[in-house]
Amino acid sequence: MPSEDAAPRLDVDQILADPGVRIVVCCGAGGVGKTTTAAALALRAAEQHGRRTVVLTIDPARRLAQSLGLTELDNTPRQVKGIDVEASGGELHAMMLDMKRTFDDVVLQHTDPAKAAEIFANPFYQAMSSTFAGTQEYMAMEKLGQLHARGEWDLIVVDTPPSRSALDFLDAPARLSRFLDGRMLRLLLAPARTGGRSMFTFVTAGFGMFSKVVQKVLGAQLLTDLSGFVAALDSMFGGFRQRAEQTYRILQARETAFLLVAAPESDAVREAAYFAGRLREERMPLAGLVLNRVHRPVVELDAAASLAAAERLVELGGHEVTVDVLRAHAALARQAVRERQVAARFTEAFPLVPAVSVTAQPADVHDVDGLRTIGAAISRP
Ligand SMILES: Nc1ncnc2c1ncn2[C@@H]1O[C@H](COP(=O)(O)OP(=O)(O)O)[C@@H](O)[C@H]1O
Ligand SMILES: [Mg+2]
Repeated sequence: MPSEDAAPRLDVDQILADPGVRIVVCCGAGGVGKTTTAAALALRAAEQHGRRTVVLTIDPARRLAQSLGLTELDNTPRQVKGIDVEASGGELHAMMLDMKRTFDDVVLQHTDPAKAAEIFANPFYQAMSSTFAGTQEYMAMEKLGQLHARGEWDLIVVDTPPSRSALDFLDAPARLSRFLDGRMLRLLLAPARTGGRSMFTFVTAGFGMFSKVVQKVLGAQLLTDLSGFVAALDSMFGGFRQRAEQTYRILQARETAFLLVAAPESDAVREAAYFAGRLREERMPLAGLVLNRVHRPVVELDAAASLAAAERLVELGGHEVTVDVLRAHAALARQAVRERQVAARFTEAFPLVPAVSVTAQPADVHDVDGLRTIGAAISRP
């Protein structure tokens, strides 16, 4: 029977200990354990490998965030206290992405305060900075670029947004560019790009030509808002694109290791396979697959044998609890077989990608001890 065991074993400790690895990106479908894995690996890098580590979490569960000392009001890394780094000399810093604050910071960095205030007040900006599809993915890239540029950490571990599709993270810069490049926006911006006069004059002049038509469709106020937004964004246009491209190149570099996280379920494994293909296309370094929340029976007894033993015991009028245990074991053994079959689909498609399995814990992982357990499980499955 093919199984994930057929893949080369992923050695996470080797990655975490390698000084040449500066960025680890955890990606995969929603709910598979990306945030947990990212936090667990960062903790392990600090405690076991003495690295000065920062973890960028996107949507940590409330209790996990609290146990890392994170609050929603924060958009910068804070050192995590109370971890075991005395022997290793490492450090763990953690932060939680605040999408809107990150966007605001970008605006503030690239415009003067008066113009920034104008942008913040614009309804288009307000909508885009808090709800535009892809903004969170884009801002995660932006934040990664910022952390990398600060050069303060040996290792940056990145969690990725809970996108419907894991591919959204890679598509974000292109999508933002497409938005900024949109037909209507291009029309608005076209005069400004060729002429030397002030942006405002040109946008206003540009409007004259087709605003009557558009006004009927969009409404006058909306159009004024949009023109203001576009005019303001234009000053940052180059900056956005340039930084997105920079981050893209960092993601392609040897200092980066992508880890795909998947649960042993069809959808998650399919998503992981898509993503692996995509990384290959983009020439981004895929280090391996973390198969999270797998079920493994503690004893080597297959489902059929276990059920047969249960039936025999019933016939003999044996102990009821033992019968129940045998039946429960049979169910677990069956699930383990199913999970292996699902995981094998990935390994068949990407036989050279190293993989490791992490056993499902009896409860959610919401504190440092839990993260340590996961980190150890990833390293010594
Ligand atoms: N190996 C595991 N065993 C048990 N629970 C887990 C495991 N990995 C993750 N979890 C739990 O699953 C839930 C989803 O994990 P999370 O890391 O938030 O997923 P994602 O970031 O991919 O959406 C959390 O409640 C987390 O505590
Ligand atoms: Mg998450």
